Amino acid sequence: MSEHYFSKTPSSPERPGLLMCRLRGHDFEFVTSSGVFSHRRIDRGTRLLVESMVLPEEGGLLDLGCGYGPVGIVAAKLRPGLRVLMTDVNERAVDLARANARRNGVADVEVRVGDLYEPVGDEVFGAIVSNPPISAGLHRVVEPLVVGAVGHLADGGTLQLVVQSRKGGRALASLVERHLGGCEVVARGGGYRVLMGRMG
Ligand SMILES: C[S@@+](CC[C@H](N)C(=O)[O-])C[C@H]1O[C@@H](n2cnc3c(N)ncnc32)[C@H](O)[C@@H]1O
Repeated sequence: MSEHYFSKTPSSPERPGLLMCRLRGHDFEFVTSSGVFSHRRIDRGTRLLVESMVLPEEGGLLDLGCGYGPVGIVAAKLRPGLRVLMTDVNERAVDLARANARRNGVADVEVRVGDLYEPVGDEVFGAIVSNPPISAGLHRVVEPLVVGAVGHLADGGTLQLVVQSRKGGRALASLVERHLGGCEVVARGGGYRVLMGRMG
């Protein structure tokens, strides 16, 4: 089977790289590698999500499908004291996210490996934020991500997802609408949109 960025254990040789970028008014450095999503530059969708994400006042934030860590690490930098959990199925991505948390001075974030909500147990959050792996399958992975959010969001908590408007945008919006009872477009740009659903 060919290798994807969402392989559990990428077999491609690790080729490290360094991304430097400014997000939400702060400078960040991220170590990346082949075998993880968008390892040469920060993805445009990720940037839109990070620039527009609404951080919860309380209850913690889950960055599901964290890759090398940009979403959760920026959240932790902006809101010290916020409980941030980052998860990914790709072990190489998880190792990079841990290293990048230390590198960017937010060592107290937690990073766990595993499929969807399996590494989360029964924890609930004020926000679940993700650039979801559309290529892993809308029905196989992304729909369970949306359905699972219902059991892992506190009352009033938000699910925030970025998607390419022309590659799954409409389908994802209707999933959020169906399972969370509403879906708002909170940001648009460069062919992407950020969708938000709220519990309760
Ligand atoms: C589009 S990438 C986003 C990565 C990172 N958040 C970013 O914005 O650069 C989606 C991520 O979801 C991860 N992923 C794919 N299937 C998954 C699953 N079943 N459970 C958890 N993470 C998964 C991939 O490994 C990948 O890192």
